[in-house]
Amino acid sequence: MDTVRLGYVGCGFVAQSIHIPNLSALPNAKLAAIAEVRPKLRGMVAEKYAIPKQYDSHLHLCEDKDIDAVGVSAPYETQAEIAADLLRAGKHVFMEKPMAVSVAQGEKMLAAAKQGGARLMVAYMKRYDAGNELVKKAMDEFRASGELGPVTYIRAHGFCGQQWTAGNSQPIFSTDEKPPAGPGGNNLPDWLPKQHANGYLNYLQQYTHNLNLMRWLMDAKDVNVRSVDFDPSNGYHGIAVLEIGGVRAVIESGAMSHFGWDEHTTVYFRDGWIRTEAPPLLLKNVPASVEIYKAGKSQQITTAMPGDPNERWSWSYQREAAHFVESVRNGTPFRSSGEDTLHDVRFFETVYRTFLGLK
Ligand SMILES: NC(=O)c1ccc[n+]([C@@H]2O[C@H](COP(=O)([O-])OP(=O)(O)OC[C@H]3O[C@@H](n4cnc5c(N)ncnc54)[C@H](O)[C@@H]3O)[C@@H](O)[C@H]2O)c1
Repeated sequence: MDTVRLGYVGCGFVAQSIHIPNLSALPNAKLAAIAEVRPKLRGMVAEKYAIPKQYDSHLHLCEDKDIDAVGVSAPYETQAEIAADLLRAGKHVFMEKPMAVSVAQGEKMLAAAKQGGARLMVAYMKRYDAGNELVKKAMDEFRASGELGPVTYIRAHGFCGQQWTAGNSQPIFSTDEKPPAGPGGNNLPDWLPKQHANGYLNYLQQYTHNLNLMRWLMDAKDVNVRSVDFDPSNGYHGIAVLEIGGVRAVIESGAMSHFGWDEHTTVYFRDGWIRTEAPPLLLKNVPASVEIYKAGKSQQITTAMPGDPNERWSWSYQREAAHFVESVRNGTPFRSSGEDTLHDVRFFETVYRTFLGLK
């Protein structure tokens, strides 16, 4: 495939601030159609990015024979349903996280992909961050060589902050059109009490990034949940103690007002650590900052940076979009496939069941 013919569903904040500009700028792709239920918004976005075809429903994109692959960003529960329809119709899908709001919904999506002979990539931009790629490389090398001894502990911390947009806090266009009603919680886990739905969704949509990053660094799929202690008033602030690849790990979840973005992950070895600190997410062309500590006779702390200027000054979201298009063009595997992501969805059900004492 020389050029991937792309469609996109949803013209909200993430679509306008991240994915539509990024996908439009790729050399081997052509953004040829969009679907958005709000007509004024759809028209404005189509005009700005010179997108020739406009649809009021993603189902028309499903029928469009000239489209190979589709990006999707919409409300959590809705985007999973949209992705399933597209996959069933044979379109490769690049979708925002969370992949699904329950394991049952995620399994339905993978079955749809099988039926349509299409593939799903979930937009976990942290796996495409040039700084995190250095972390992964160092992890692989240290684990193979044993230079720092075994991995002993992993700490993921995310109190976030209000400045994740790095000043880019408005979509380019907004209208007074009402967004549509979604499936209304029908796809949430059937064991989840209604009053805990918000806490569950807030936790899932945020910390799915942190779990997904830890699993990738450790080459691990399944995660054991050992204990969960959240503030019962919000079902969100607190700590989850896990076991990933046989190693104790924690996710510290919370919220605070912060001038930047408070999120970092440290992998501890017996004789050192690797630490990665996320930039405010919409700060373009700044990868995660990486620190490597080696203990031993000569103590050493180094800051690792990508050497290639194109990677040193790069944006994780742009790189994930490029990865999607190149993987579709070449038929190569996605680094963050739907099959892999289902492990994250399963984990979040277990965390919440544990928090609610339902395990
Ligand atoms: N990766 C990240 O860093 C990151 C950051 C923020 C949000 N997100 C994810 O992005 C997704 C979207 O967030 P957003 O802030 O852009 O939301 P948004 O509400 O601004 O936009 C959603 C758009 O989808 C449209 N829409 C809804 N149902 C539709 C349908 N059936 N067909 C077509 N269009 C439909 C709405 O009209 C709206 O324009 C969320 O799932 C969220 O988890 C990811």
